[in-house]
Amino acid sequence: MKIFDTHAHYDDEAFDDDREELLKSVRASGVEAIVDIACSMETSRLMPAFISRYDFMYGTVGVHPDDVCGLTVADMDELARLSEEDKIIAIGEIGLDHSRDDVNKELQKKWFAAQLDLARELDLPISIHSRDAAKDTLDVMRAEHAENIGGVMHCFGYGVEMARQFLDMGYYLGIGGVVTFKNGRKLKEVVEYAPLDRIVLETDCPYLSPVPFRGKRNHSGNLTYVVSEIASLKGLSEEQVCETAYKNAQALYRI
Ligand code: NI
Repeated sequence: MKIFDTHAHYDDEAFDDDREELLKSVRASGVEAIVDIACSMETSRLMPAFISRYDFMYGTVGVHPDDVCGLTVADMDELARLSEEDKIIAIGEIGLDHSRDDVNKELQKKWFAAQLDLARELDLPISIHSRDAAKDTLDVMRAEHAENIGGVMHCFGYGVEMARQFLDMGYYLGIGGVVTFKNGRKLKEVVEYAPLDRIVLETDCPYLSPVPFRGKRNHSGNLTYVVSEIASLKGLSEEQVCETAYKNAQALYRI
């Protein structure tokens, strides 16, 4: 089975001690492509050099809602320049996170909208982080005509009704370890509901390990547990899930 991890953070320091060996074993387990996701100006700047070390890895540039304080218009210009580097294939992760109140909501919306504009100008898909902010996310996306940009709702965490609205806008749903959690009923329902051709696999590693490794450091090799859960929820074979999700990931990232 060949697997495409559409959202990982292998540049994270959690991998500093054993990154090369881990990625070798991940590759040997059938993971054929990985997109490493930036979340700040700093990680965006380091991304081109980081992904150039691995021929199976692509990257993004963009600023996560937790990190938008202090952003400037010049930063948007710099992201545009960075996006022209080799194998940078999307803008992300960008979006809104109202789960904590340490970053002003209006400021988050402003820079989410600015990065949607950027993606549109650059003709790149987007990876969206949206947590406890479903309505605001939809409002900004609608106002910015995000249906003309395209991308993925990373680590989708809302219910079926919200899934329907993002699917209607043409977005893919990123499904990861949470679908294996005992308390993951809401996400299991979303997976039952969503057409397989709109689902992509993601780890968000080092975070969100599936059962039986919940709480431990995650890596792309663990996606087999996510695949088997999706297959059982949808009554399909694991091969069908992997194959379709792989094609979806290629369509999403246009590679
Ligand atoms: Ni992430």
